[in-house]
This record gives sequence, C-alpha cells and structure tokens, in this order.
Amino acid sequence: MRILLAFIVVFVCGFSSLVEAQNFTSVIVDAEKQTHVMLNEIAAIGSQAEVNTKGGKKQNLVSPRSIDAKGSLVMVKPQDWTSGFFPGVLWFLFDFTHKNEWKEQAQIFTSKLENEKWDTGTHDLGFMLYCSYGSGYRVTSDTAYRSVILQGARSLSKRFNPKIGCIKSWDFGKDKWQYPVIIDNMMNLEMLFAATRLSGDSSFYKIAVSHANNTMRNHFRSDFSSYHVVDYDTVSGKERKQMTFQGYSDASAWARGQGWALYGFTMCYRETHNPLYLKHAENIAAFILKNPTMPADKVPYWDFNAPGIPSEPRDVSAAAVIASALYELGSYSKNGKWYYKTADKIVESLTRKYRSVIGENKGFILTHSTGFKPAKSEIDVPLSYADYYYLEAIYRKLHLKKK
Ligand code: GLY
Repeated sequence: MRILLAFIVVFVCGFSSLVEAQNFTSVIVDAEKQTHVMLNEIAAIGSQAEVNTKGGKKQNLVSPRSIDAKGSLVMVKPQDWTSGFFPGVLWFLFDFTHKNEWKEQAQIFTSKLENEKWDTGTHDLGFMLYCSYGSGYRVTSDTAYRSVILQGARSLSKRFNPKIGCIKSWDFGKDKWQYPVIIDNMMNLEMLFAATRLSGDSSFYKIAVSHANNTMRNHFRSDFSSYHVVDYDTVSGKERKQMTFQGYSDASAWARGQGWALYGFTMCYRETHNPLYLKHAENIAAFILKNPTMPADKVPYWDFNAPGIPSEPRDVSAAAVIASALYELGSYSKNGKWYYKTADKIVESLTRKYRSVIGENKGFILTHSTGFKPAKSEIDVPLSYADYYYLEAIYRKLHLKKK
C-alpha cells in the first residue's frame, strides 16, 4: 500500500512539475535540436528552395510552413501569410539561449522578408513582418528593423477603408463577398499599434482602434463566439453577411478564429487600456474555456461545433494561440488565476503529448495542427505558427515568473 502511495505521489508530482516549476530548460534544448533538423532540411532542399518555377514564374521559397501528404517539407514564398513565423521561432531561440548562432539564423531568415514592407495586397502583413521584424526589434532594438515595421504599417494602412472602418482582408472571392474582414485580422493590428509607438504618428493607432471597434460590434454572437468572415457593403459601409471560410459552418466557432479573437482583444487592451476590450477578451475566454466540447487536455478540436467530435482532428495551433493569449490576459484580469491555470495546462499538454519526436517531422516542434479542414488541407500536421505561439507562450510564462 505504501509503495503504491509513493508511486502515485511521484507520478502526480512528476506530471505537474514541468510548468509549475517553470522548468523549460529541456523543452528549449529540444526546440533547438528540432530547429537544427529544420535548418538541415531547408539546406537539403537547396536550390529548390531558392526558386519555384511553377507557372513559369520564379519565386524564392524562404520559410517552412508545414509537411505535405508525401511527408515533404512545405516551404513558402515571402508573400505567404506564414512567412514570418519561422524567423520568429529563431528569435525566440536567441532570446532563450543568447547563442549567437540563433541570432545569425534569425537575421538571415528575417532579411528574406524585407520586400514585403511594400506589399499592399495582403492584410497579413502583421503576421509576416511583426513576428519576424517585430521580434527582431524586441530582441535587438535594431533601427533598420524599426524602419521595416513602419513601412509595413504604412502599406497595411492602405487597406483601410474609412467608410467601413476596417482593413480589408482578402482581394480574392469577388463572387462571394464585397469587402471581407476576417477575425484573424485582429492579429495584424499589433504592428499598427507598434508603429504609432515607434513613430508618434497616431494615424496607425486610429485605424487599429476603428478596426477593433467594428470587429467587436459585428463579428460576435451573443455567446461571444466569433464568426470567421464579416462581409461589408462597399456603398453603405454596413455589414451585410456573416459567414465562414475555414470553419465548419457559418454558424460554427472555428477554433483558431476564437484564438485570434482572444489574442487580438487582449492585445488591444494592452495597447489602449480600453476596459471594453478587456471585458470582451474575458467574454471570449469564457466561451472557449467553458465550451462543452473542450477536451480535458485543453487542446480544442479544429472547430468547436465540428459534427464528428470526439473523432475530429485537434488543432494544436489554436491551443498554442489560446495559451499565449491567456498568459497575457491573466496579467490584466481579475480571473488571472483561472487563465494562468488553463494556460499552464495547455502548455503541459502540448509539451507532453503533442511534440514531435526529436529528428522527426522535418524539425517542426509540435504536431497535430489543422490548417484548413473544409479544403481538406493541412489536417493533423505540424504548422509553423503552432511552434511560434507555443514558444511565445513559454516566453510569456517565463517573464511572468520573473515579474
Ligand atoms: N490566418 C489564417 C489562418 O489562421 O489559417
């Protein structure tokens, strides 16, 4: 009996010790090992990664995104919305370890995206430039990085329509919508807030606040779940349709979208101190955390209303975004204990159950994410943004501990 009791104590304490003791040393060492694997994979692709002759057009493939059905590494061009996450991963590794090799790699992979600062054809510039150049600026205060962030913010601002009060998300799909705005776009506002802080030019801040206010008004149901897409009428400026693109249905709650919403409004509260954003983030958190379909390990299914739960794929990327957001929200909210405990649980689950075996999955750190289920694309695979937000969650946890 005593032996059994001792076994239970050791097992339970061992299981909960990782996050509570902030003992991430081995997790970071493993992330470094995986990233070495990734760098070798990228080097092995070599000239193929340099050019993609598809459609006769030569393009640089600069950042890893996922693994395809054949098990090959998927690399993307700088214009892809995910291009900034791998540079961001490298900056986190430098931040964690202070090893020069990570700084050098981060600089190399970040520099490949510089031209995107002129890109006015996407709302994803925040993801692309703020996770790469923004991370570089956080770590080095390099003024050249600051200039890229500022030019990126100017380009992103060109997609703002004052009549509608939002930044336009997509230029494709003219048969489906007039002026689509997706919940993901909340994430891109962070670069606009940063641009005002860095330049003193308040126009970026005003655009971000207008976009956030309209999103708060038009993107949410009464239970504080978010629609994926809101389409606006370009003549009246009013919302005309609420729908989905990557979720299960127009009425469902696509998991990563809920994560973007939670993270976005938490970040807006940080930047503005507007208590309405804090309340909104708390309401979104309640929807996510109290959702009856949320599994015990707190890694959600790809859509909270996916019809085949519990046989549906999980989305580790949504879990990572939610964990990172909860660590920040916890530092502002009266519900901090609940948020910290849940974020710890998510990080614990990702660390114990959803990491790649060292040397596998082309060097991605996490696996079991879902990118775009309705398009049968990127289901139960590693995704670069899952890795990025997982490392950011650990970074935030370590900084909370220091505070
Ligand atoms: N921003 C695109 C996605 O979350 O899949």
